[in-house]
Amino acid sequence: TPIRLADYLPPSHLVDGVSLTFRLDPGRTRVLSEIRFRPNPARTGRPDLRLDGEGLALVSAALDGAPLAAKPDATGLTLPGASLPDAPFTFTAEVEIDPAANTELEGLYMSNGMYCTQCEAEGFRKITFYPDRPDVMAPFRVRIESDLPVLLSNGNEVASGPGWAEWHDPWPKPSYLFALVAGDLVAHSAGFTTASGRTVALNIWVRPGDEARCAYAMDSLIRSMKWDEEVYGREYDLDTFNIVAVDDFNMGAMENKGLNIFNSKYVLALPETATDDDFARIEAVIAHEYFHNWTGNRITCRDWFQLCLKEGLTVFRDQQFSSDMRSAAVKRIEDVLTLRARQFREDDGPLAHPVRPEEYIEINNFYTATVYEKGAELIGMLKRLVGDEAYARALDLYFERHDGQAATIEDWLTVFEEATGRDLAQFKLWYSEAGTPRLKVSDRFEDGRYTLEFEQVNPPTPGQPVKQPKVIPVAVGLLNPNGDEVLPTTVLEMTQPRQSFTFEGLGARPVPSILRGFSAPVVLERETSSEERAFLLAHDTDPFNKWEAGRALAKDVLARMVTEGAQPGPDWLEALARVAVDETLDPAFRALALRLPGEDDMAQTLHAAGHVPDPGRIHAARERMAGALAERLESELGALIEALAEPGPFSPEARAAGRRALRLAALGLVTRRDGGARAEAAFRAANNMTEEVGALACLLEIGRGQEELGLFETRWAGDRLVMDKWFALQILHAAPEETAATVERLTAHPAFDWKNPNRFRSVVGALSANHAGFHHASGAGYRLLADWLIRLDPLNPQTAARMSTAFETRARYDADRQGMMLAELDRILATPGLSRDLGEMAGRMRRA
Ligand code: ARG
Ligand code: ZN
Repeated sequence: TPIRLADYLPPSHLVDGVSLTFRLDPGRTRVLSEIRFRPNPARTGRPDLRLDGEGLALVSAALDGAPLAAKPDATGLTLPGASLPDAPFTFTAEVEIDPAANTELEGLYMSNGMYCTQCEAEGFRKITFYPDRPDVMAPFRVRIESDLPVLLSNGNEVASGPGWAEWHDPWPKPSYLFALVAGDLVAHSAGFTTASGRTVALNIWVRPGDEARCAYAMDSLIRSMKWDEEVYGREYDLDTFNIVAVDDFNMGAMENKGLNIFNSKYVLALPETATDDDFARIEAVIAHEYFHNWTGNRITCRDWFQLCLKEGLTVFRDQQFSSDMRSAAVKRIEDVLTLRARQFREDDGPLAHPVRPEEYIEINNFYTATVYEKGAELIGMLKRLVGDEAYARALDLYFERHDGQAATIEDWLTVFEEATGRDLAQFKLWYSEAGTPRLKVSDRFEDGRYTLEFEQVNPPTPGQPVKQPKVIPVAVGLLNPNGDEVLPTTVLEMTQPRQSFTFEGLGARPVPSILRGFSAPVVLERETSSEERAFLLAHDTDPFNKWEAGRALAKDVLARMVTEGAQPGPDWLEALARVAVDETLDPAFRALALRLPGEDDMAQTLHAAGHVPDPGRIHAARERMAGALAERLESELGALIEALAEPGPFSPEARAAGRRALRLAALGLVTRRDGGARAEAAFRAANNMTEEVGALACLLEIGRGQEELGLFETRWAGDRLVMDKWFALQILHAAPEETAATVERLTAHPAFDWKNPNRFRSVVGALSANHAGFHHASGAGYRLLADWLIRLDPLNPQTAARMSTAFETRARYDADRQGMMLAELDRILATPGLSRDLGEMAGRMRRA
């Protein structure tokens, strides 16, 4: 039965303090709890106290010292209101849990002999009985007893001795931010002094041998701390900030107060083992988790429907940080690529849901691109609408007013309304209505007056057949036919279904640059000629729209190649060739411009245009497109590759990374002409993982690289994170008809540890990321995915559910493929003992 936002009730009791003692043992850990409750004055009557608890063996419980004969049910324990004092009281309990048998990686579990926790969203109830809901906030004291050398929890360490340590977190927090780590760990340490003079000990804890791989993460942390002080006026608030890297982790990382826990792939990096993308991701995830200390921890969410309150805002903040550290233009393009690939795709299918959902069965299924990435876009739109200065004032008010609280989207919007005097009722629809608005544009020019006419269409999504018009900030610029800008970026505020905007006094019909910087998460629909796209690619002053023009041109070309068997015309080839060699442009931008539209993206676009996408044809057309580009650029590529060589030691910075990206894009094209000679040489000469793996990918793309795969495996067999790349690469670059067989071969490899989420994702995730391979007409990709989901589900339902989203695009394809996908969903749904997680996902995808 679903949980509904409309059913929210404040907690029956508040918690004034919690003390926990952990006697750690792999199979039999004892957890002793002492919880000081107080009736919530916001509730009347004598409501029952519900304590959540799952999989706990209750040893004993007491109320104010008097033993309680409590009988837990499958999901917790109810203390009847009539039996509770109408005044503060203390509940104590002792439970036993089995971390070694915890394969779900939620609650307290073990990874390589180390104890660690993951409590968001509802993992704390697998540790002890507690009101496991974010609107119950309390200070925690934690005592850990174990012979392991490093014992960590939230807050500051207050005492320790041989075999024990005690931690105190003075900041009231919800249980989802609880964390505990115990293990044989070593620290890479540094210090930070906050703006007001507090000295903070910073530690990144890793397994012995990994300590040399923490420098970049530490540098990113220090830069994040400084940035949050300078840009948001937010200081750190404890004496210690600990980060722990864990190999077995269901997601990216977790912002537990003072004790962030990370998937080791977002911490560990050396130039030899991590790519430029890995470095950028580490910087972003470190920043994201650190920024949660204010947007998430000091101000948390009232309930899980408000998840975007912390996630949308924190993603927006980490995106701002990365733009400041790197190139804002390149960052924006990359973020939009991700948004379209993941969120637009989600919004277009059976899993579409509002940024603030109104019901769920399993909350873990709502840590989605919509909540995170679209949630971040809403913050960006708000900032664009009110302006930077008002945004800063509203944020100051938010921190001042809601510090220490569990807040809602209403609280967030009210702060903006008060700071700006604006009515945000219509803006709020962005939070409650799912789906990606379509923005149709037409224009006319008469007597020096140029008019842009917009129409917004808000297509239906599951459960929301009819939608209202949204507020859409449309950033527009106008260019003269000679390429000069006649109207610099101006934000038009669209609020009606149809709306026109007129610009006077123009000497000639201008070329419009619409939705600059991707000012709203909408699909722009405007008939545009290739000449105009090429013109904007050459002249637009807005870097996002300059790139977007090239991308739109490429998609038009590719669409015609797929549907009409056309050849790529000279317009596109010449326009792109000019960008490729234009040395006034940032190499990273040129690399992005050379990247062809993805096959999944093309399938989505073709489907939206009324076609039934054929994955095999899309793949073949894209190959021909790459071949034509390689041919056109053949005489330039060699020089480009030479000129972009980076002499000297490796730098992970954006400038050097951008040059490597362009160099590898050129190498990929050259490889289609020289049979792989240059890529083989580049692979052997590489002194960093970006080039090593990049050159290998070029070879695999043309069906070569077998020898290099062997060399790579020998060199990196002992490195889990690098071997994840080895697994993924072979599948991502397999030919469509060989993808399933490649997966079968690799899942039989002795190093395929399917219980490790990173390894599972690098194989099974790569299968669904290979569009033509996954959707191969044989149906083998679908069967294989379903087989693995069914196998993983009883052990790790969260990861199984997440990976099932490969089936969300079913409706795009032909009847045969749809039938095969449906059959796999039915097979999943018929599996005895199916988890709530996978059951909800498969059910939602089945119904639509
Ligand atoms: N709050 C974490 C973050 O965004 C992610 C937690 C994901 N939890 C989950 N159950 N999927 O940094
Ligand atoms: Zn987050």
